Amino acid sequence: CGIVGIIGKQPVAPLLVDSLKRLEYRGYDSAGVATLKEGQLDRRRAEGKLVNLETELTRHPLDGKVGIGHTRWATHGAPTQQNAHPHFCEGVAVVHNGIIENFAEIRDQLTARGAQFTTETDTEVVAQLLASLIRNGKTPREAMQATLGLIKGAYALAVLFDGEEGQIMGARNGPPLAVGHGEGEMFLGSDAIALSPFTDEITYLEDGDWAVIDRNGVEIFDTSGNVVERPRSKASTAYAQVEKGNHRHFMEKEIYEQPEVVSHTLAHYVDFTAGKVRNIAPDLNFSAIDSIKIAACGTAFYAGQIGKYWLERYARLPVEIDVASEFRYREMPLPGNQAALFVSQSGETADTLASLRYCKEHGLKIGAIVNVRESTIAREADVVFPTLAGPEIGVASTKAFTCQLATFAALAIAAGRARGTLIADEEANMVRALSEAPRIASSVLNTIQPQLENLSRELSRYRNVLYLGRGTNYTLAMEGALKLKEISYIHAEGYAAGELKHGPIALIDENMPVIVIAPYDRHYEKTMSNMQEVAARGGRIIFVTDENGAAAATLDTMATITLPNVDELMMPLIFTLPIQLIAYHTAVFMGTDVDQPRNLAKSVTVE
Ligand code: G6P
Repeated sequence: CGIVGIIGKQPVAPLLVDSLKRLEYRGYDSAGVATLKEGQLDRRRAEGKLVNLETELTRHPLDGKVGIGHTRWATHGAPTQQNAHPHFCEGVAVVHNGIIENFAEIRDQLTARGAQFTTETDTEVVAQLLASLIRNGKTPREAMQATLGLIKGAYALAVLFDGEEGQIMGARNGPPLAVGHGEGEMFLGSDAIALSPFTDEITYLEDGDWAVIDRNGVEIFDTSGNVVERPRSKASTAYAQVEKGNHRHFMEKEIYEQPEVVSHTLAHYVDFTAGKVRNIAPDLNFSAIDSIKIAACGTAFYAGQIGKYWLERYARLPVEIDVASEFRYREMPLPGNQAALFVSQSGETADTLASLRYCKEHGLKIGAIVNVRESTIAREADVVFPTLAGPEIGVASTKAFTCQLATFAALAIAAGRARGTLIADEEANMVRALSEAPRIASSVLNTIQPQLENLSRELSRYRNVLYLGRGTNYTLAMEGALKLKEISYIHAEGYAAGELKHGPIALIDENMPVIVIAPYDRHYEKTMSNMQEVAARGGRIIFVTDENGAAAATLDTMATITLPNVDELMMPLIFTLPIQLIAYHTAVFMGTDVDQPRNLAKSVTVE
């Protein structure tokens, strides 16, 4: 969910909506705003996308120069108007991002004392608690501090109290919350992007902090109510409103931006003139560590998996990787001679952040590959490896993924050099290969679209698709399946080609297209055998290969997508492109909401 609060000089409802538009990447199930005018709270809420709230506000405008807003990704309670934030209780209005874990317990206690709940949400207990404390004579500040002492879980909150016209309270424990400083106006928001129309002067609250903003500034308190100082910083200008340009969707734009942003990311890490990776990770001390742990979620996890293959192969560095939601609870032993790496586009994913904190508590050196420089994960890591992808708006990650790969490639080379497993000539060859990636990516993107559109039209008729690959292409098979299912809603699975015979082969028939990703590398012959196994059972094959692979193939396929022959290190960067475009065009044919697919959110700050 995304939250915003404004104490403004003019009516704030339109400003709240403007800010919420920038936060829609955090969820878009329902949205709402509340304002205070002459001591009275009022609100407008709507189910579904923000446009519905805008329509509602046109029909029933909302006045008031102080207000809060919310765009929701539902956790507790269906995404109905009734469950949409802000939640009201007797003159208290609350918007919340996160999960109140002990909400049932609190709700039962309050119900026993006569409270009447009107929604199915966990958030309503916050409004009810605050209201009951105020009813019992507490001031809003006292009520806020007491409430924060009672609720457990993860939250970013913004609260309005009627009668307190010039003030908004905020609190953070887990999901991010930033204070924006203006001249005679003040702001609260989930991140710098939300605040970018108003100010670039930002103070991030830390976990356990709560704050009171008024027209003159902010007071920040810790959990015990002591005043604390938090630094004020300038947010980068990268958050100016991002437009789609000539593209139909942000996802399409972001796919086509990859040559450029991968090139920027590579240039950050690689000195192409010297044929070397820069000295990028002295603090991770690759030569002294015995192994690396990696944790991430979604597409970032797949980038980490390819990173693992590279770090193991080129730097002989053992890597253990897990999805962050498992990693954080496995209670694994963490001897000190390891480093940990976390991969995240947003830098806010709750499970990834919790995994980072687990490793930090165990004294590991923490590296983070992140796209949003001001994010919590970036701020808590010891060493930040930025991806220079720019703002990624499409919910399905594309350019952030290839920039994560570019960063991992540089890290693997740096680690190989530090550990003496790569000699200078090998490094120079790898750097040369990477330097060609943006140009080749660009030529692939410019040529394969018509063929992929035809193929995708066909694919959109099926209900299931299987992806197969070996090595890094096994990871791409899983990433391809994830992309297809998240935006086209076609069920898809990615499998290691060698595992086919241990289960998925039972599914093969003429209704199951199988996308096989197999360039002419050291796995080619083996994957060919797996393709034969599919063909022998009537499976329909879509073969994604390179020129050498296409020349050596002997099978009939439903389609063969032929990419240029490229160096093995560069393959994932190039082979991702048709995989992304197949998902994109199939979704377009299915008529789904490509940039904001149902039930998903771009940044998931709950576990
Ligand atoms: C969500 C998004 C994915 C993303 C994942 C991890 O599920 O829909 O596109 O890969 O979160 O997000 P992060 O910001 O940590 O990379």
